[in-house]
Amino acid sequence: MSKVYVGMSADLIHPGHLNILNEAAKLGKVTVGLLTDKAISSYKRMPYLEFDQRKVILENLKSVEEVVSQETLDYRPNLKKIKPDYVVHGDDWKEGVQRETRQQVIDTLEEWGGKLVEVPYTKGISSTKLNNALMEIGTTPDIRRARLRRLIESKKVVRIIEAHNGLTGLIVEKINVNVDGELREFDGMWASSLTDSTSMGKPDIEAVDLTSRSNNINNLVEVTTKPIIYDGDTGGKIEHFVFTVRTLERLGVSAVIIEDKIGLKKNSLFGTDVEQHQDTIENFSKKIRAGREARITDDFMVIARIESLILKAGMEDALERAKGYIEAGADGIMIHSKEKSPDEILEFCEKYGKFERTVPLIAVPSSYNTIYEDELADAGVNVVIYANQLLRSAYPAMLNTAQSILTHKRSFESNDNCMSIKEILELIPGTK
Ligand code: SPV
Ligand code: MG
Repeated sequence: MSKVYVGMSADLIHPGHLNILNEAAKLGKVTVGLLTDKAISSYKRMPYLEFDQRKVILENLKSVEEVVSQETLDYRPNLKKIKPDYVVHGDDWKEGVQRETRQQVIDTLEEWGGKLVEVPYTKGISSTKLNNALMEIGTTPDIRRARLRRLIESKKVVRIIEAHNGLTGLIVEKINVNVDGELREFDGMWASSLTDSTSMGKPDIEAVDLTSRSNNINNLVEVTTKPIIYDGDTGGKIEHFVFTVRTLERLGVSAVIIEDKIGLKKNSLFGTDVEQHQDTIENFSKKIRAGREARITDDFMVIARIESLILKAGMEDALERAKGYIEAGADGIMIHSKEKSPDEILEFCEKYGKFERTVPLIAVPSSYNTIYEDELADAGVNVVIYANQLLRSAYPAMLNTAQSILTHKRSFESNDNCMSIKEILELIPGTK
């Protein structure tokens, strides 16, 4: 009996997949190389179903003999081990990111006289369509909450951007770009204290309370499925913070980040231009512990944000705090800087990488924004947060339009600055 190999993500199994597997089974015994979360996330959206869930579905299909894991997009390691007579794949990988993979498969099979068989693409159904349908169905708080940890485990770098209302949430949810066949999108949302407050016309000094900010979260969860990281400011009093954790967890938020400052909090980007004080390691560790004890699920992450570089307390202080907060149980460390150059962040990353025990590292490149995500990832950063760019770009556009209308006493001149009336009517499904 011939050996047949089929590489698959098998997230949302549809008739197209079944057709490929059935065709493969006609040629011999089918081994499916099931792509891991990591392998899939290297070129497209992380799958909805976990690896073991996808595996058990495939194992129950009559056309499948065996399921093994394929750790990379590259088929070669598995092919060299299994030496199949055939590899079967849909014919839709001749272009784009998988083109090179396809050629490698052909060349490798040649080494022992194996053949690539390509099955015509099944029309009318695709994972993209199913993805869109799933987005419309929505998600549950439990599934959304757990997604951040999975993303951190499976992606080289998790890409988060600020969302301060339903509309910005929709942008984060839906926008993607295809660069040389790699589908790039944002992985989740940052509920920023700066943009939450600013969009309400209030200062970023913890004056907007949890109830108001929960309304924002509610607006986000109604129209999106991606994970949310909540900017918890200082976390407030320990006795209050435990309730914040419960509220956020219930809403399906994946993580809260609290910063190690006390007293009246001002935005970090002011640095030492305003009076701001750092908490002691001991006190802040108590807050971290209390937050962790308050949560119901292990999925919810309490992340500690270090302000030592912002407040010019020095690198040694930042590192000592990182160690202390990890010991207190922090599920992640966010290191912040307001320098134009990424040097101090990179120095922190290098020294952090030498710790005996680390937790995921988060960076917010607002001021040092010439650095690329990949460079931060190579330095050891797991999550990059674009903390305020959607609001900062929307405001000048609105200001321009308002000024233009005042100047010209009509809106005609601002037409080019505005989306068309047709576009806004079609933007949100169900408006018609
Ligand atoms: C925020 O987005 O509110 C933050 C990041 O806390 S920063 O504004 O840089 O302090
Ligand atoms: Mg903030």
